[in-house]
Amino acid sequence: MIFDTHCHLYDTSYEKDPKEIIRNSLNNNVGLIMIPGDTLVNSQKALHLASCFNEVYCAIGVHPESVEEEDIKITRETLFELSKNNKVKAIGEIGLDYYWRKDEKHVEKQKMFFIEQIKIANELHLPIIVHDREAHKDTIDILKKYPPLYGCVIHCFSGSLEMMKECVKLGFYIGLDGPVTYKNAVVPKEVAKAVPLERLLLETDAPYLPPVPFRGQKNYPEYIKYIIKEIAALRNVTENEIEETTFSNGKVFFGV
Ligand code: NI
Repeated sequence: MIFDTHCHLYDTSYEKDPKEIIRNSLNNNVGLIMIPGDTLVNSQKALHLASCFNEVYCAIGVHPESVEEEDIKITRETLFELSKNNKVKAIGEIGLDYYWRKDEKHVEKQKMFFIEQIKIANELHLPIIVHDREAHKDTIDILKKYPPLYGCVIHCFSGSLEMMKECVKLGFYIGLDGPVTYKNAVVPKEVAKAVPLERLLLETDAPYLPPVPFRGQKNYPEYIKYIIKEIAALRNVTENEIEETTFSNGKVFFGV
């Protein structure tokens, strides 16, 4: 069975009811789903969806692109309050994103939120889901200075082969998604080939990043089968091996 370890099924761009999307996925070989938050409101939505299904869990946290609208004190209080629910299995997604904005004031606020949320995860004994877009060096520097004590996955990994190896050395997991299937995605394919299988998690990042042959459309958890197919071919192993190993990796990582 498939474990989609990262999908934003509360996203308002879906025309379908998220519960219908989940039911459909569960009927299509998806065994477990992890829904991360990106704002405090969406963290609550993720928790609500998780509460409706045995097979669904959630993470809570403020995404770097949302730090402008959030207050760190309220964030801290809210994350502590929400984490009392045992459907909450991680803090995320948190991290740095320099793709849209890299002005100093915004970058400083992103870093502060990232560091504070790592500390919260450590206090709550939870792993973290890290978003790193065009911020590889600062992300690794912060993770070294403020080590996550209960697990760390670099979701939608977009770094180099060398960075992947450094992350593995630091004990982190690597999350891979649709781009692995894109024809010109040379580096993601190299990473998919070389990452130790016991550190690999699979994710859709739905509704974004649909794998081939669904590029340009909405993404759904069951599409992970196309990512599995590609990774199995790259590594010259069976699809079943990739599917089963990543499923149990996800269970170990999130403690579900
Ligand atoms: Ni995401």
